[in-house]
Parts: sequence; C-alpha cells; structure tokens
Amino acid sequence: MIAPELPAAIKVALEHKAHGLSRNDAATRAATMSRTYRDGGNSSAIRSEADALAYALARMPATYAAVAASLNALNEVRPDFAPQSLLDAGAGPGTATWAATQAYASLRTLTLLDANAALRTLALEFATANDRTAHMHYEAADVRSKLVDMPSADLVLASYMIGELDAPARAALADTLWRKTQDTLLVVEPGTPAGYERIIALRTQLIACGAQVIAPCPHDNACPLIEPDWCHFTQRLARSRAHKHLKGAELPFEDEKFSYVALSRIPVPQRPARVLAQPEMSKVAIRAKLCTARGLEIATAARRDKAAYARFRRLDWGDAIFDAPEARE
Ligand SMILES: C[S@@+](CC[C@H](N)C(=O)[O-])C[C@H]1O[C@@H](n2cnc3c(N)ncnc32)[C@H](O)[C@@H]1O
Repeated sequence: MIAPELPAAIKVALEHKAHGLSRNDAATRAATMSRTYRDGGNSSAIRSEADALAYALARMPATYAAVAASLNALNEVRPDFAPQSLLDAGAGPGTATWAATQAYASLRTLTLLDANAALRTLALEFATANDRTAHMHYEAADVRSKLVDMPSADLVLASYMIGELDAPARAALADTLWRKTQDTLLVVEPGTPAGYERIIALRTQLIACGAQVIAPCPHDNACPLIEPDWCHFTQRLARSRAHKHLKGAELPFEDEKFSYVALSRIPVPQRPARVLAQPEMSKVAIRAKLCTARGLEIATAARRDKAAYARFRRLDWGDAIFDAPEARE
C-alpha cells in the first residue's frame, strides 16, 4: 500500500519552485484552470511555466492520491505483479509515474508522453529529485499520433487524460493504449458521471478486445449500476496551508472523487467484491452496497451478529472483499 500524499521529494521540489511565487497569482491561475475544466475545456489553458506550476500546486496532490488509491486496489488483486516497464500517456507533470514508482520498486524503464511543453519541463525538473526517475524518457508529442511509436510496457497509465480527447479520438486512444499494454492498463478519471461514462466506454471496448477487468469490478459483465448512480470512489488527502490558500479553502483536507479501471492480459485467480459507497450504519445494522460477481447487492450485518457487525464496521468505500458475505436484501 502506498500513502495518498505526494512523496516528500516532490513536495520539497514543489515548495522550492513555489518559493517567491505570488500566491495570489498562482491562485488566480489555478482558479482560471478550474473554471476552464468545469466549462468542458482542457489543459490547453496551461501555457506558461507559471501556469504549469499553478496546476501542479492545485491538482497534483489530488490526482496523485487518486492514482495511488487505484494502484493500491490493483496491487491487492495482483500482489505478484512486478512491472519492469511503464508507459504514462498524457503524463503532464508526471503525477501517475511518481505514484507507480512508489508502488513498484521493480520499475526500471519509464516512458512518458505529453504534448504540453510547460508540464513536461516541470516533470523533468521533478524527475531529478529522485534517482529512480532521473533517467526517465519523456517524449514531447501528441498521443494521437505518437503513442503508437512508443515502446510497449508492462504497466500502461492514463491518468486524468482520456477526457481531454473527443469521443472518436478517445476510442482510437483506448485501442492504442491496449496494444501498448504487455500486462496491465490503468485508466483513472475524475469521479463525475462524465468521467465514469468514459471509463465504462473504454472498459466495454477493451473487454471486446480480450481484456480482463481486475479492479474495481469483480466481473467483465456490463456495469450493474443504473443512472443516475455511477461508480466512483473517494480518497481523502491532507491540505497544506499553501494548498488551502491556493484553493481558497478552509478545510485541512480534501476528498478527491475518482473513477478507474484496471484491465489486464493476465487472468487473476480471484476478483474480489467491491464496496461501492460508505456503508450505512443504523442502530440495528450496517448496510453495505457491494458490486459482486453476481451483480449489485446490499449486504447487511445485524448488530446482534457480533462477528459480522465488527467486520462491517471496518469496511470502507472502495474496499475489496475477497470472501463476500452472503447476507443480501
Ligand atoms: C489533466 S492533465 C493530467 C496530467 C497527468 N496525467 C496527471 O495525472 O497529473 C491532462 C494531460 O493530458 C495531456 N494531453 C491532452 N491531450 C493530449 C494529446 N492529444 N497528446 C498528448 N497529451 C495530451 C495534457 O497536456 C495534460 O498534461
């Protein structure tokens, strides 16, 4: 399991870069980017070094936390996975690569690809902060034309990236991402209905190409959730004082909502059930919404059933359950 917080080396590098930067200027830039994203825009608003730094300060902690949580889920299902090579498509400041190097000591070859020069420059600066990332290869190019020429890898990542493309380009990208995947592909998106829709479309497309879903779903069937429900998870992360200022926030933490899918060429022996929301506790019982191999189920542990109740009390949204309870509604 890796922690949801950015590694110390990145935190220090970010703080170092932010030193002397006008906090108000960075906050204004970060707010403009958030507005652009909310209005359906993309990261093309990040043009300068200052924009890239504002983006990293505002968003890197949360996207890192989401990727870390997704990698932890993947790791639980494939504890023997020891990738040697990584390909990060739309790598931006290298967030997902950093999380993967924390999760997998086995990684030797890191290839990143992104079209944004300012984010690439920032990632290359961060890379020098650590021996393991110092020799990464970062290609400055468009994934739509260049991903196909990149070396394939054991672990392929696309973090908060596929939503930047239109639907036809996204479908073509999904195909190329899978062709570049020797073992496992992890795609992470914002935990919004639109992010979930993109994950589901990619999941459906790649299952048809022979991919097996290894997380979060315990099956390759159609998603059993019915609109307006959507599959997403949440990861809490602490906010530094600078981060609070940048976001104009009061709370010392934030909850990043994300959707993800891990698809593999290697079948796993067991796909655990997944807790799809924070279990609800009442005076008499705890109810947990689960995605199981049989479909969507509500499992209940009555207070009088001490062992089951104690077990359900420990359940969290996103947890894997290898021996899913039989109790159903
Ligand atoms: C929201 S950022 C996410 C960056 C990074 N993966 C992360 O998790 O922090 C989206 C990234 O996708 C990149 N991107 C979008 N469209 C692209 C394209 N057609 N070719 C290459 N990179 C692209 C952007 O430049 C940006 O770095």
